[in-house]
Amino acid sequence: MPSPVLTVVEDATEGARIVADGIENLVRSRPDAVLALPTGRTPLPLYDELSRRYRAGRIDFERVRTFNLDEWVGLRPGSPGSYAAFMAEHLFSRVNLRPENCHIPDGAAPDLDAECARYEQLIREAGGIDLAILGIGHNGHIGFNEPGTSFEMRTHVVQVTPETRASNRWAFATDDVPSRAITVGIATILDARAIVLMATGPDKAEVLARALQGEIDPSVPASALRLHPCVQVVADTAAARLLGRSRELTFE
Ligand code: GLP
Repeated sequence: MPSPVLTVVEDATEGARIVADGIENLVRSRPDAVLALPTGRTPLPLYDELSRRYRAGRIDFERVRTFNLDEWVGLRPGSPGSYAAFMAEHLFSRVNLRPENCHIPDGAAPDLDAECARYEQLIREAGGIDLAILGIGHNGHIGFNEPGTSFEMRTHVVQVTPETRASNRWAFATDDVPSRAITVGIATILDARAIVLMATGPDKAEVLARALQGEIDPSVPASALRLHPCVQVVADTAAARLLGRSRELTFE
């Protein structure tokens, strides 16, 4: 089946259920599965669903390992606005993931390049990522790989565009959104054995169409996903509305 496979769902709740089904099956067959996890508003229904399934005894996260895609530079882990704080609030405190199994780049590390190398090494030592779950930014970024980023990059420090800082403003108490971040690279993401891209809401329709049916080009970082053999795109009807039937996409 050609990749990506597109699954169009009614709404974000249905999308969350489908992605959670995939995670539940993966963890059942591989209890120490390695997940790459996103932040942002898109995965919130998924984290709610995973928490519900944990409470219902359907998913045991005891041995699961996680790697977040990115973190702001300059924020101490756990400080407001940090992705570490976001993950603690929305997922880590709600399921039985062990703290030592949950990895997030340290944006407060004194030597950022060394931190990036350490993070790549940790992913390698974990045996690589089984399933990378991604959101998509309005300009097509995945993780914090902004337009123009080479598909060859691994974990690195980025300058975040003013547009992306503005879309992340909601998570901060003041206008003080950091200007740099650490992100896994596109090459790191493409090394994952399977990838799920989640997109919800009408504001993602245009970029999703460019990513899935435009040129495969660093100007739209998410277009790199079409180079991977096992990608599922879970989009609600609003986000999928500009996607025409095409040979490149398998419609479910
Ligand atoms: C941030 C994150 C991305 C995320 C994007 C989209 O920039 N670094 O990983 O995919 O936001 O966010 P949202 O889901 O809120 O639209």
